[in-house]
Amino acid sequence: MTYIAKTFNLPALQGLSEKQIKVHLALYEGYVKHVNLIAETLKGYAAYGDKASEGDKYAIAELRRRFAFEFDGMRMHEFYFEQFEGGSCKMQDGNEFSNAVKEKYGEKGLEAHIREVASSRGIGWVVVYKDAGTIHTTFVGDHEVGQLSGLPILLALDLWEHAYMVDYVPAEKKNYIDAFFTNLNWSVVESRF
Ligand SMILES: [Fe+2]
Repeated sequence: MTYIAKTFNLPALQGLSEKQIKVHLALYEGYVKHVNLIAETLKGYAAYGDKASEGDKYAIAELRRRFAFEFDGMRMHEFYFEQFEGGSCKMQDGNEFSNAVKEKYGEKGLEAHIREVASSRGIGWVVVYKDAGTIHTTFVGDHEVGQLSGLPILLALDLWEHAYMVDYVPAEKKNYIDAFFTNLNWSVVESRF
């Protein structure tokens, strides 16, 4: 199968310019392209069968290793952009999601916890997952290093510099995170739960 880049119905965002989003969406499309490219290249190598040289075997192994980077790069951006669809919406109280959040993060709250995890050094994502009756928040390196296997993703905050460097310098990462939460549609996160 061939993956096709999704389109997102994004409103005008506060603190994230049209140019920033355009650049970021183009980057997302690059991941989709490379998922297909790796799959296609591996298919080509499969035809070599026993005739694959030692060099071919290295290339095949490296492509397989690389596939998760491209695939998760594609998928994580889909989680990311979908969260802005429908426009900004606050977290609602008194539902299963808000109860799970309260039980796990108490007075501090989920947003404050995400902000704390987001201060981790390095490129990657803050990812919030659902597990049976609870929530986990982790820092994922690149797009695929440290993903919690099998858990549904509730929220994905892109912390690669490409996510904000059209609008902010690296020292202004906090302003980008403010903009992320200003525009976040929590009802999308709640419906994923
Ligand atoms: Fe990104």
